[in-house]
Amino acid sequence: MRIAVLNGPNLNLLGTREPEVYGTETLAQIEELVRATHQAAGVSIDWFQSNHEGALVDAVQSFADSADGLVINAAALTHTSVALRDALLSVGIPFVEVHLSNIFAREEFRHKSLLSDIATGLVCGFGSQSYVLGTSALLSHLKAK
Ligand code: DQA
Repeated sequence: MRIAVLNGPNLNLLGTREPEVYGTETLAQIEELVRATHQAAGVSIDWFQSNHEGALVDAVQSFADSADGLVINAAALTHTSVALRDALLSVGIPFVEVHLSNIFAREEFRHKSLLSDIATGLVCGFGSQSYVLGTSALLSHLKAK
C-alpha cells in the first residue's frame, strides 16, 4: 500500500509557529511519527510540503498516479482553494483531510472547508495525532475496498 501526505502553506514552520495552537512538534517530527506508526505494516509513504497552491495541485495530480490514497492538511488553502478542490475531484483518488487544530472551534472563516464534502473523512483537533489517525483511517478504508 502506498499513500502520500500533502502539507500546505506555513506548515514548514511548525515547532515555532503559534505553538499554543499547533504544538511544538516540527513537521519533520510529525513525518517521523507517521512513518514509525506504519513501518511494520510495510506502508510506503511519500511526504510533501509546499507553500504554493500550484505546487500542491501538481502534487495531487502526480501522486494520484502513484499512490492509493492521500492525506491532506491543506492549511489555509483548505478555506480558499477551488483549484485544490478541483484537482482532487479531477483525479478522484480517496483522501482524508487532517488538521492539527479543531478548525470548527476557531475563527468563523476556518469553519468552512472546500475539501470536506469530497473527502473520505476528516480528522481535526488532535495535534500530530490527527496525522496518525488520518493515515490509519485512510489505510483501513483502502484495505476494505
Ligand atoms: C490548519 C488549520 C488552518 O485553518 C490553518 O490555516 C493552518 C493549519 C491546522 O492544521 O490546524 O495553517 O490546517
